[in-house]
Amino acid sequence: MCGIVGVIGREDTTEILLNGLEKLEYRGYDSAGIFVTSEHGEGHLVKEKGKIADLRAAVGSEVQGTLGIGHTRWATHGIPSDHNAHPQVSANGRFYLVHNGVLENYEELKAKYLSNVTFTSETDTEVAVQLVEYLVDQEGLDVLAAFRKMVSMMKGSYAFLMIDQTQPDQLYVAKNKSPLLIGLADGFNVVCSDSLAMLSLTHEFDELHDGETAIVTSDHVEIFDPNYQVVERKPYKVSLDADAVDKGTYPFFMLKEIDEQPAVIRRLVSTYLGERDDYRFDPQLIAKMAEADQIYIVAAGTSYHAGLAAKQIVEEVAKMPVAVELASEFGYHLPILSKRPFFVFLSQSGETADSRQVLVKMKELGYPSLTITNVDRSTLSREADFTVLLNAGPEIAVASTKAYTAQITVMALLAKALGQKLGTDDGKIDLRSELSLAANAMQTIVDNKEAIEGYAKEFFETTPKAFYIGRGQDYFASLEAALKLKEISYIQAEGFAAGELKHGTISLIENGTPVIALITDQATAGLTRGNIKEVEARGAKTLKIVSENLAESADQLVLPAIASVLSPLLTVIPAQLLAYYATIQRGYNVDQPRNLAKSVTVE
Ligand code: F6R
Repeated sequence: MCGIVGVIGREDTTEILLNGLEKLEYRGYDSAGIFVTSEHGEGHLVKEKGKIADLRAAVGSEVQGTLGIGHTRWATHGIPSDHNAHPQVSANGRFYLVHNGVLENYEELKAKYLSNVTFTSETDTEVAVQLVEYLVDQEGLDVLAAFRKMVSMMKGSYAFLMIDQTQPDQLYVAKNKSPLLIGLADGFNVVCSDSLAMLSLTHEFDELHDGETAIVTSDHVEIFDPNYQVVERKPYKVSLDADAVDKGTYPFFMLKEIDEQPAVIRRLVSTYLGERDDYRFDPQLIAKMAEADQIYIVAAGTSYHAGLAAKQIVEEVAKMPVAVELASEFGYHLPILSKRPFFVFLSQSGETADSRQVLVKMKELGYPSLTITNVDRSTLSREADFTVLLNAGPEIAVASTKAYTAQITVMALLAKALGQKLGTDDGKIDLRSELSLAANAMQTIVDNKEAIEGYAKEFFETTPKAFYIGRGQDYFASLEAALKLKEISYIQAEGFAAGELKHGTISLIENGTPVIALITDQATAGLTRGNIKEVEARGAKTLKIVSENLAESADQLVLPAIASVLSPLLTVIPAQLLAYYATIQRGYNVDQPRNLAKSVTVE
């Protein structure tokens, strides 16, 4: 949520900032801005409501310099507008600051120190920059001392980049809870929320930890701990290719990411499953999991839905009880926990604030934890005892696709390793062969998109609402299918346990209401078919997505059969494609749905 970038020591600072912001647009896209200054202190501020393309159009050729900061916003305090966009500026125009995060005590600080200052925005961020100017002008502090004092006064989350226009040879940097990396290059340096923004310039990054500040010049980076002692930390290399962040010939990232899923599954098998069916996870991780009496999966959104599917797999394969918890609820309404819980945090970004607050609390209680994430060195990865990477490649589209199937696959591989360790796996599922079948079946589905595009038109072109129904794993996949559809096409969609409709919600079925039924489980297929008849009798228009072994002649989408506990890996693919095509047909931006951002770093 919100992306920030900074550059020092390059003539083409403006272009680097705009490029970087384009790469970070997935973090927020309701307004954006840059401030660029020359080495003589000649500055240019440009801010625009809208996307980075709007900002780019507003940047004139005179906007050049060797030091600059930029921001793409997902509004928290104050509506999306030019004046609420960052950089925010101090009253005398000396300090420029961009911020990712939420300042919890900004009103208090504003009332205490800044009652004489005229504010030009409704943002919490403006308080930070005005406070620096106040501390310099009224308390006589030098700029570094003022910046540090301001940071020490702030409660909440922040990644700050600040420029003092009278010192156009350094960048002030601070971080707490919001991600921030310093990219190291030859003769210049960059700062960014995510390495993806700067991969075309450098693969070497310094990581900033919570409570740290830094001074960055064109040839030097100095990091300080919260006591202002210099921190010596080795830079690390990001192995991602800059091309991985490119759409290539695809019209949208979401379609590219849907298509990548078979390759991701195969990659996960070759990473975590050895030739002799040995599972390549840290043995200490598996030992710790095996000591537990219950696994708690904590996650949000799509990752939560992956957790629901994973629960069934772990229980079936390793016979270990699993509870799946919504991060935003769990941390504040802690249930009675089992005696020896083990916590698994599922998070594509590794930055979700709701999940992080639970991890912090569980660590305080002394419970062991694992983060399963797509982003190496992300906050949740650094803070948990163990990390397993999803290796899915960057997921840029706001609607999560390949992370969901990767999370389920990793959990299945872990379940097998745990079952082996505990001796509880009855060997009924040959995971290598099932995942190979799943990857091939996914490939067949994505290679035959036209049929799904046609169903999207037939079922979703004009409808205001839709239902996905199923039982067991099909119900959990229905929740994800409905989330995909609603978040990008704005059709009000619900995922429902097929048997529950008749207990109330069936009253919403009208003539023509689309109901998409998932049927992959032999034990309940007949019951779900009964529920389909019930909604059809009330006018619903039904689309049946069915496993080959359970298919009937009138079923429209027939999927290759795999072990039914792994079925969400397959049923979700047509659902992702249906959502994708419905969104295009309705004329919306697939990758950047309204009101949303990837990487939700506020609670
Ligand atoms: C929906 C979506 C979100 C995320 C959720 C958790 O398509 O992407 O629901 O799944 O915000 O994000 P992570 O997995 O990064 O913790």
